[in-house]
Parts: sequence; C-alpha cells; structure tokens
Amino acid sequence: MNQFVSPAKSLNGVVVLPGDKSISHRYGLLGGIASGVTTIHNYSTGADCQSTLGCMQALGAVVERKEDKLLIHGASLHEPAAQLDAGNSGSTIRMLSGILAGQKFTSRIGGDESLSGRPMDRVIKPLTQMGARIEGSAIAGRNENFPPLTIHGHGLNGQPLHGIDYTPPMASAQVKSCVLLAGLFAEGDTIVREPIQTRDHTEIALKDFGADMELAPRTITLHGGAKLEGRELMVPGDLSSAAFFLVAALLVPEADLIIRNVGLNPTRTALLDFLASLGASIKIIDVKQSGGELIGDLRVRSSANGLTGGVIAGAQTAALIDEIPALSVLGAASEGGLTVRDAGELRVKETDRIATIESNMRRMGIQIESTPDGFHIPGRQKFRAAEIHPAGDHRIAMAFSVAALAADGPCTITEAECAGVSFPEFFATLQAIVG
Ligand code: S3P
Repeated sequence: MNQFVSPAKSLNGVVVLPGDKSISHRYGLLGGIASGVTTIHNYSTGADCQSTLGCMQALGAVVERKEDKLLIHGASLHEPAAQLDAGNSGSTIRMLSGILAGQKFTSRIGGDESLSGRPMDRVIKPLTQMGARIEGSAIAGRNENFPPLTIHGHGLNGQPLHGIDYTPPMASAQVKSCVLLAGLFAEGDTIVREPIQTRDHTEIALKDFGADMELAPRTITLHGGAKLEGRELMVPGDLSSAAFFLVAALLVPEADLIIRNVGLNPTRTALLDFLASLGASIKIIDVKQSGGELIGDLRVRSSANGLTGGVIAGAQTAALIDEIPALSVLGAASEGGLTVRDAGELRVKETDRIATIESNMRRMGIQIESTPDGFHIPGRQKFRAAEIHPAGDHRIAMAFSVAALAADGPCTITEAECAGVSFPEFFATLQAIVG
C-alpha cells in the first residue's frame, strides 16, 4: 500500500501511542507461563506483539480480549501442532526460544523472509550451553544459524537445563532475556553479565511475576524453579514510537505536541537526553509508576533556534539502537549533522538499517556516507520529495514519513503497511496532528 505524506507547516495536538512493544512481548510471554490470569492494559496493537500471543496460544495459553484489556490464562505449555510463527519479530523468536528450550517437547519456530535472514547463533549458543539441542536452518552461502529453529527442550534426554554464567558477546536485551527465561526452567543459578547495559524490562517483569532473582549493576542472577503468578499490568506507551513524533515536532516550524503516557524507563530514555543535548525543548510532565515501569507525558515544541548536530557512539549507540532511523532524519536537518558509530547491530535488524537509511536518504537528495558500523550525515540539508522504499521495515517507513513532513513536495511511502509491525495507527495519528 502506498501512503502519501505532504509537507507540514505546523503540528498540533495530543498523541496517543500503542503500548510499548518490548514490554508487551515480555508480559505476553510471562503471562503465558504464569499460573492464573494475567490482565494487561494497553498491550501493543503492533503485529509483532500479536505474533507473541499467537505463539503462546499455539503452546496452550488462552488469550481473551475484553474491552481494552487482554486476559492471558497461563498454562503448562504443550507441544504445538504446527511450526510456531514469529512473523517479523526478532524479539518473539529469540525470547521465546529461551522458554521453548526449557520444555519437555520439541518445537519449531520460524517467521517471515526478513526474520529468516536474522542471526540466531546468539541464542543457540547459550541455550546449547544450558543443555538444549537446537537446529537452525542454512541460508544461501551462510551457516545453519537462521530460522526456522528446531528446539529440543530439556527432559528429552532425561536431563533438565542447567544454569550458566553468561556474558553475551554483543549488547542485546533479547539475548539477555532469552537466557533468563531459559533460566526459569533450569536447575541452579543462571547469571547474565552484560557488557553494556540494555533495556531491563525482562528483569523488572520477572521480579513482578515472582521470579527469584538478584539484580546488581549489569549482572542478573536468577535462581531456577520459581513459580510465576499472573498479574494485572499496564503497558506504557512506546517511547521508540514517540521518537517519530518528537523528531517531527523538532523538524516542522510550528509544532506543539503532547505525547501521553510514555514509558520512561531509564534504560530507554537516552533518546530524551540525546535530543536535549542537541538543544531540543522537551518537557516531562506527570511521572507515575506502574508495574515497576515509569510513565509520563511529554510536551515537545519546535526549537526556536536550529538544533546542533551530534555523535552517537559506544554505549549510547546500544541505548538508542531503535531510534537511529528517526534521529538520522533529524541529523540531516540539524546544524552540524549526525555521526553514528559502533552500530554494526543495525545491519542485522528488520533490514540492514544502515543500507536502508542510506538508500532512502539518497532518494531524498541527502548526502550520507556509510561505514561498516555506522554513517555520517552532514547537517543543513533539505529533503527533496521522493518515493520511499522501506523494504518492509516499520521504523524506516515511519522515519522517512517524518522526513516527508519537511520535504519540498509530497512523498510516497511504498509498502507503508509495514508500520503496523509496531504502530498500526501511525499514519492516522500523523494525519490528526498535521495543520
Ligand atoms: C528489543 C531489543 C533490541 C531492540 C528490539 C527490541 C527487546 O534488540 O532493537 O527492537 O525488546 O529486547 P537486540 O536485543 O537485538 O539489541
């Protein structure tokens, strides 16, 4: 589906976001294995989080939708009748693999074409060390560590999983979470030591559901065998989705937006710090806490003076990894441009995001130089109207829709439906605030 986006002179109004994608996945997974009922308010409407629910249902959990709530009746999981479908969702396949490794049956899990090209050795390795047996699939000219995965859980050889002390070789919340979820079903302690702090929603949710664990800075120790109990939970709005509206307000000359009930977990708010460091005016109002997560409203207004440029590198790259597509758009319009380093992980997201950012910037007449693990975009550039090709990547579709608001004419976003992976209401929300 093509979506047309015209230049905007002003943006005004209130933005309501879908529930946070990362937190929704975790509540969906834990609700499915906890005893009793888990009631979730504001569960993400994105297709990725529906994939997680679909998998949990195929494994025996019962999911009911009541008004704006989701009720999950947890279960002892059973062998699924068919291959589990993670769709486009790396979080689903990687985190659920940890749970599947702890079951007494064999399961197979795969997804769409994009997911089938994403590396799974990062979860196969630690789960194998814990005692699971996992067979990946080969893709042309590469090794056998890609989806679909066949996961022979513990117990098949008469031996339960055993805890490990694991330091992931890359900054990845999905890998950390996968190992911790497997640790729930393992004998002994599972320890994950993070080289760089990543989002800690799994730790917060596990504690809330009753897992037996200790948290120290960047080290999590989980004692196997605890019984999880269903909970009533509220999912905050997704700050990674708010990023598109924050950048839009900073690009369009007359903008004043309120973004409601946004998740403000400190492991996610590097975005707000980075924007403030460029000179952006963003106010946080009304912070409250729910299920161990912080929630607040944001007010963003166009900046009276231009924004400076910046560099994203090291630990900051890991903390901003999902926001880099949106920030690249802001970088081109800023005074000093944007340099991104240490972002090799962008090459293995839903698309090779360094490549899809580069090709779409070029379509819009923007200069950009890429490197193996980043890019540089000089500042003070003007977006030319163009046809955008997101290659099925939701964050690329939304980032360049925002660039289109500042272009010199109407733009066409092809395959715009891919925004629905995290934010099905994105274009309607955008339309409602454009003056
Ligand atoms: C996520 C972790 C990140 C992020 C993804 C969601 C999560 O991936 O890019 O969108 O929910 O844990 P990695 O763990 O691969 O860095």
